[in-house]
Amino acid sequence: MRHFQIPRLVWLLVALLGATGCGKKTENGNGAASPPSAEKIKLGFLVKQPEEPWFQFEWKGAEKAAAHYGFEVIKLGVPDGEKVIAALDNLAALGAKGFVICTPDVRLGPAIVSQAKRNGLKLVTVDDQFVGPDGKFMTDVVYLGMSATKIGESVGAALHAEMLRRKWPLNETGACVVTFEELDTARNRTDGAIAALKAAGFPAERIFKTPQKTTDVPGSFDAANVLLTQRPEVKRWLICALNDTGVLGAVRATEGRGFSAENVIGIGINGTDCIDELRKPKPTGFFGSMLVSAPGEGFQTSAMLYEWVKNGTPPPLDTRTTGIFITRENFEQVLRKEGIIP
Ligand code: GLA
Repeated sequence: MRHFQIPRLVWLLVALLGATGCGKKTENGNGAASPPSAEKIKLGFLVKQPEEPWFQFEWKGAEKAAAHYGFEVIKLGVPDGEKVIAALDNLAALGAKGFVICTPDVRLGPAIVSQAKRNGLKLVTVDDQFVGPDGKFMTDVVYLGMSATKIGESVGAALHAEMLRRKWPLNETGACVVTFEELDTARNRTDGAIAALKAAGFPAERIFKTPQKTTDVPGSFDAANVLLTQRPEVKRWLICALNDTGVLGAVRATEGRGFSAENVIGIGINGTDCIDELRKPKPTGFFGSMLVSAPGEGFQTSAMLYEWVKNGTPPPLDTRTTGIFITRENFEQVLRKEGIIP
């Protein structure tokens, strides 16, 4: 019976290693097992709002890059500054070599940079660009994000085009712009939308900004409700915001006041947080979105970081992504092509 004892011991060891996470096998793109994680480079991917589909899709992109290049990605939700600092200590303790981050507050930039340095972690920022103590962007920190002004302008132009197509009378129409101006990328998007509306001839005095306190559906719902109360004379609404979530909340607010798809045109940004909405059998006031590839951004930022850690090749300091307009007509097709839905 002795010859059974050796394999059993080996199995015990394997089980033990498995339980401690050492020697964990993951599938790579070819379906073969990758090298044990102990040998893999570990990289963090930290996001401010893990509950938002946008960030879940970024994580998916990072996982794809991890499988492709053979690194390990550690995904962490960091809704506030304390969580960020704790996450960086944890990453260092786990032996990670760097991280990608969408920070919960851009003014944490300098603290995150020095904490990263202390922990020997390379750093790539995504979506929300760090701001220094002088209020200016920290352009020496690697950043990848959307061309916020341009994408905002395309929202404004698309809102105006749809309004013209429907032949809405200007004197009955208002533009509800849900804003979050403390975040630069958000302000640039809504400013871009306003500029394009004005450039197309939409009257400036019929454009109403309303600030959201929090960047979630309740936040934009409340912001839109304040405006709807102030402007009961407006019969038709164009709606834009920093992202899909901002428009969704405002559309829900209009529904609460008896508006519907006939008299509301809402256009979001992201294209990831409106999939259920566009799939609803009956159209709502949420007309469409400027889709930016969240999986693409997740893949690209983590791949850049990996190359930097592995080969010492520093990524470009500033990379911008563009958008594609999706509506109920084309979203399934476009999202499938972009690898966002199966
Ligand atoms: C910000 C927003 C997200 C998403 C990203 C994209 O972080 O909060 O919803 O739009 O920008 O860059």
